[in-house]
Amino acid sequence: MKIIVARLLNFAGILGIFASITLSGCGVRGPLYLPRVPPAPEAPTQPEPKGQQWPAPNNANSSQTPAAGSTKKIIKEFVMSLIPPLAGFSKKDNQWHAEEVPLSAIAEQFGTPTYVYSRRALTEAFKAYDKACVRADGTRRAKVHFAMKSNSNLAILDLFARLGAGFDLVSGGELSRVIAAGADPKNAVFSGVGKSRAEIAQALHAQVKCFNVESIPELDRINEVAGELGLKAPISLRVNPDVNANTHPYISTGLKGNKFGIAYEDVIPTYQVAAKMPHCEVMGIDCHIGSQITEVSPYLDALDRVLALIEKLKNLGITISHLDIGGGLGISYGDETPPAITEFANTLLDHIDAKGYGHLDVIFEPGRSLVGNAGVLLTKIEYLKPGETKNFCIVDAAMNDLMRPAMYEAYHAIVPIKDNSGASSQVYDVVGPVCESGDWLGRDRNLSVAAGDLLGILSTGAYGFAMASNYNSRGRAAEVMVDGDKTYLIRERETIESLFANEHRLP
Ligand code: LLP
Repeated sequence: MKIIVARLLNFAGILGIFASITLSGCGVRGPLYLPRVPPAPEAPTQPEPKGQQWPAPNNANSSQTPAAGSTKKIIKEFVMSLIPPLAGFSKKDNQWHAEEVPLSAIAEQFGTPTYVYSRRALTEAFKAYDKACVRADGTRRAKVHFAMKSNSNLAILDLFARLGAGFDLVSGGELSRVIAAGADPKNAVFSGVGKSRAEIAQALHAQVKCFNVESIPELDRINEVAGELGLKAPISLRVNPDVNANTHPYISTGLKGNKFGIAYEDVIPTYQVAAKMPHCEVMGIDCHIGSQITEVSPYLDALDRVLALIEKLKNLGITISHLDIGGGLGISYGDETPPAITEFANTLLDHIDAKGYGHLDVIFEPGRSLVGNAGVLLTKIEYLKPGETKNFCIVDAAMNDLMRPAMYEAYHAIVPIKDNSGASSQVYDVVGPVCESGDWLGRDRNLSVAAGDLLGILSTGAYGFAMASNYNSRGRAAEVMVDGDKTYLIRERETIESLFANEHRLP
């Protein structure tokens, strides 16, 4: 926060003068993925130019020449300095800690790049949901099924299972992970548009709680496979409510044009068919409209549409026992202000109660809001490379470790793990060693750093490691969980040998 306030004061004058410059003016694309420009403060003070570090031709994106630099650049630089509120990570004595452990000590012990998670932050986020899930009289009105695609490390699954979570899974691999983590697959719902016959059979044998069915051919296939196995498949239909979640187009799922769910107008006839299928049992109804959603209204719109379907089903004699309202609640990566978890969950549950459906068991499928701000990617600076138009801070993490910036132009705050008083401040693009210009982790970041320093890429607990790849034959990062002053290695760094262990040369 101190950094934000200092930066705010620094740029107050310029922001005030150029208050009319808007988001699109500073190159910010997408409503949620890069931070918004804050309201312009009024004090008309100019930032003080500081000493030059790079040779003259290489200062094109340096913060040392604000008067010469465009206003757009200065505003962008401010925007790119925002840090979200974090429960498990904080700066103490000039260096960042995970709970009680200095992140520098973790880098020393386990190397970099390493994902670091805070058990406290994970637990607090889960409890925030669970608080809303239990009524004042102690009875349960809803349950959290962790969307494990966001982070499927066994230690994290185990932690959530111990806290009482179920799971939302999307593949046979994820189902195997639930079992390997010692959790009960009976507490898992199985979503996803492309379930194979093998996956359906695996899930039937494991007795998952429910299949969230995404198409009519899938329903037929589930009925068929269950018949072959002499089993009955518990099913919900995933409704595509055609509601705009106002999020990044790649992670919007509840619109007509998206591949997900059954078209709204087809839902009732499909339930009528499903209810008559010999090897399916209708259990619930399901809906998920997207991810990184920062407002409640799209949920309420979707809920109303789903509740209307439940009413119609009741009139047709088809009763359901659970209502799965999906995941998708956004987090703050910088300046987003999504509703707090408990408030969000209460609003939806109260809405369901008020409409007369309080008797249904409700399922939440959150991923990002449980783990996103509970993880940091720790990386080391390999080189500082001044350039004609950009200065580059080249780190040992890359797009293969954290795909989100390259894929969605996502913003992640980046902080030096220790203050480096000997380094002067410069504006850098923070990039990795992968051979693609798209391999960037942060753009236009004002950092006072030197080669060898450590950086923390914040808010990377969700869809960070989970989306990592071996591109450029890079082994995937280690993962570490911090619990108070204790540190646990929960995934070893991948060895290079393991990358080609399953490959074969020609005879
Ligand atoms: N349920 C279903 C059926 C889903 O498809 C998803 C996420 C979730 C729950 C959990 O959504 P969450 O609470 O995490 O928003 N890779 C993207 C996010 C993709 C989300 C896919 N589905 C990213 O890095 O932003």
